[in-house]
Amino acid sequence: MKRLLGEDIKKKESLMDHFMRVISVRGDGANPSDLYVDEAPRPETGAGSVLIRISHAGVNRPDILQRRGLYPPPPGAAPGLGLEVSGWIEAIHPAVPYADDVAWRVGDPVCALVNGGGYAEYVAVDLRHLLPIPAGWSMAQAASLPEAALTVYANLIEHGGLQPGETVLVHGGNSGIGAMTIQLGKAWGAKVIATARGADKCEFARSLGADLVIDTTVDEDFVTAVKGAGGADVVLDIVAGDYVAKNLLCLNHKGRMVQVGTGRSPVVELDLRRVMQKQAVITGSMLRPRSADEKARLTTKVHEKLWPLVESGAIKPVLAQTFAFADAASAHAWMDESHCGKVVLQI
Ligand SMILES: NC(=O)c1ccc[n+]([C@@H]2O[C@H](COP(=O)([O-])OP(=O)(O)OC[C@H]3O[C@@H](n4cnc5c(N)ncnc54)[C@H](OP(=O)(O)O)[C@@H]3O)[C@@H](O)[C@H]2O)c1
Repeated sequence: MKRLLGEDIKKKESLMDHFMRVISVRGDGANPSDLYVDEAPRPETGAGSVLIRISHAGVNRPDILQRRGLYPPPPGAAPGLGLEVSGWIEAIHPAVPYADDVAWRVGDPVCALVNGGGYAEYVAVDLRHLLPIPAGWSMAQAASLPEAALTVYANLIEHGGLQPGETVLVHGGNSGIGAMTIQLGKAWGAKVIATARGADKCEFARSLGADLVIDTTVDEDFVTAVKGAGGADVVLDIVAGDYVAKNLLCLNHKGRMVQVGTGRSPVVELDLRRVMQKQAVITGSMLRPRSADEKARLTTKVHEKLWPLVESGAIKPVLAQTFAFADAASAHAWMDESHCGKVVLQI
């Protein structure tokens, strides 16, 4: 066998420096077991971006949909799985213009929404999308925060226009999005009504502060209970299908229905006379296809408005499970089973 000389070893080490471990999808990605540990070149950092050495990566429902080929990355996004991470700044592109108040340094611990590629050892991120690790939160907990924080702030507060004293109805109170909606809704001074499927999930939603929790495995008709509790001014819905017509029935005058997911069918039947009668607003949004500038604006808002609630303890971590990087398949399987809260991969 040929022995490696000093020069060869240096060359090999320098080559390895340019590669990293990632999670890739084999075949059609129909099953969690289609995930495997692969190698890929480390991402390049462009002007205004940083390279993060990832500590933990959040696992979200959109990752499952992407694995199965049902949620392709938008144009310009990194093709890999993973939308949120925590880690340490490994390198900052030299062309970054520093302002004193955003003077990130190499080695700083951060968390961030990323445009794909979070299931990896390194990811390149727009400098403006970085958030500090909230005081008292571990790196694992911080990795579970950006996706839910930005999605819920954008949809509940900006699109839904939730005001203190109003009532919000959220479905899937056990989900990452549902858990954040309950906590942000309460911290915002609203009354929160949540639905969930099963006693354990309902108990979880209640433990986060929901004022009324409806178990839809006992009664699919949540409308009667919501109307009995005074109706909803904002509905944040991840279920769609037949829930949408019911959401409209729950809505108060000038209420807002915000669609964030379509767990059932994205195609729905609606009596538009009720929209007119109630002067209802039907809206919704997706986080990932937003422009880098728009995500930067939203990150700044979330830092200003939501981070203080996180640091005061009004919004608590809901991290339920941490899986090893090589066990990403189990993390996806866990998401598909009955679960409450969030899951992360330890890189
Ligand atoms: N618009 C955006 O920018 C954006 C960003 C992030 C996430 N999302 C969407 O938000 C949703 C939640 O994401 P997540 O990461 O928080 O996922 P998650 O933790 O896996 O939660 C999914 C939730 O949806 C419920 N659900 C799914 N199918 C349902 C059905 N047919 N009937 C009733 N409930 C159903 C689940 O209930 P069970 O636990 O009982 O199954 C669970 O509560 C997903 O649809 C995701 O695609 C949207």
